[in-house]
Amino acid sequence: MVATVRIKQWPTPIALEPGQVVLEAALNAGIPYPFGCQSGNCGACKSMLIEGKVELAEYSEFALTGEEKAQGLVLACRSMADSDIEIAWLEGEDIALHAQRKLDCKVVKLERLTHDITGVTLEIERGGPFVFTAGQFARVTFPGQKTRDYSMASRPDEPALTFHIRHMQGGHVSAYVASELEVGMPVAVEGPAGIAHLKEAHTGPIVAIAGGSGLAPIASIVETALAKGRRGPIHLYFGARDEQDVYLEDRFKALSAKHPNLSYHVVLSQPSGATGRRTGFLHEAVASDFPSLDGAKAYVAGPPVMVDAVTPVLVSKKMRREDVHADAFYTDADKPKVGA
Ligand SMILES: Cc1cc2nc3c(=O)[nH]c(=O)nc-3n(C[C@H](O)[C@H](O)[C@H](O)COP(=O)(O)OP(=O)(O)OC[C@H]3O[C@@H](n4cnc5c(N)ncnc54)[C@H](O)[C@@H]3O)c2cc1C
Ligand code: FES
Repeated sequence: MVATVRIKQWPTPIALEPGQVVLEAALNAGIPYPFGCQSGNCGACKSMLIEGKVELAEYSEFALTGEEKAQGLVLACRSMADSDIEIAWLEGEDIALHAQRKLDCKVVKLERLTHDITGVTLEIERGGPFVFTAGQFARVTFPGQKTRDYSMASRPDEPALTFHIRHMQGGHVSAYVASELEVGMPVAVEGPAGIAHLKEAHTGPIVAIAGGSGLAPIASIVETALAKGRRGPIHLYFGARDEQDVYLEDRFKALSAKHPNLSYHVVLSQPSGATGRRTGFLHEAVASDFPSLDGAKAYVAGPPVMVDAVTPVLVSKKMRREDVHADAFYTDADKPKVGA
């Protein structure tokens, strides 16, 4: 049976087909519903169910905790209903709701950033302007490949879009990028998406934490914050396995020399030899560096295991859970399927 969904922030109700999720119906109707992964992993579409019942497909505890569910919160990207409902996306937080664009782009630069991370710069040929907030991501389709999510490493005010794509063992698209992508090739980009973006209204300290190619959105956030004249402390932590995985070091050293409010820390988790660098895991470094993070915000991006380890440490340091803005780089294989 087709159900009717009333969305508190939207004047007209929408129809929900059997088996369809609320977020899909809303986006199809052109409603600027906040969203990110569309797979129950990020929490960007968290909403209050005001009336009626929904069936929730599988999702991660990171996206919606048991406590939140008990308070009546649901994930619009996982919610199906066979009777009428009323729902509201969460407000109050600074959430970017930009127009969705479908861009035709062209590869204009390929850069080997490390042995397994490629910097891909795209020129927008059609479909712009592409307005996004630093820290957001896009759905990117390389020629003949499945669509994947990649975070913009460039600042929103830059004309070209840059991505940092790590070649993942056994991964299809990232292997293509590492070995077959060439300058001049066409690339489709759709977005922007995600809510783990720079919150410009917040003026307190920032802890920006990146693992591997998670440096892409974190670089965009840190550089945008500095470019906008932010004076408060910005603590940038970059975690890499070994020396060969460290990248953009010169850029961040130069930025911290120019901006005394930026501190830059590299942490190696598996150094293969003696090193003068800090070693260990990012969550351990953050745990030992801060007695309290009350009033600070964190931006975290990279492997899900790192995001899962860092988040409780930040909260244990008195950072509010809603001040932890994280993008875990889930792969398609990690994502639960609707109806699974
Ligand atoms: C919000 C977001 C932002 C992201 N931003 C970035 C970014 O900026 N940079 C970046 O490098 N990545 C980013 N990612 C990750 C990116 O979207 C891709 O998931 C990643 O590049 C791997 O894609 P792939 O096609 O190479 O791997 P896939 O082919 O999807 O494989 C991924 C992993 O799953 C394994 N696998 C494949 N098929 C199966 C199967 N059937 N069963 C079990 N395991 C399987 C593979 O061995 C591999 O380890 C982001 C992800 C998200 C959600
Ligand atoms: S968009 Fe719904 S959890 Fe990510």
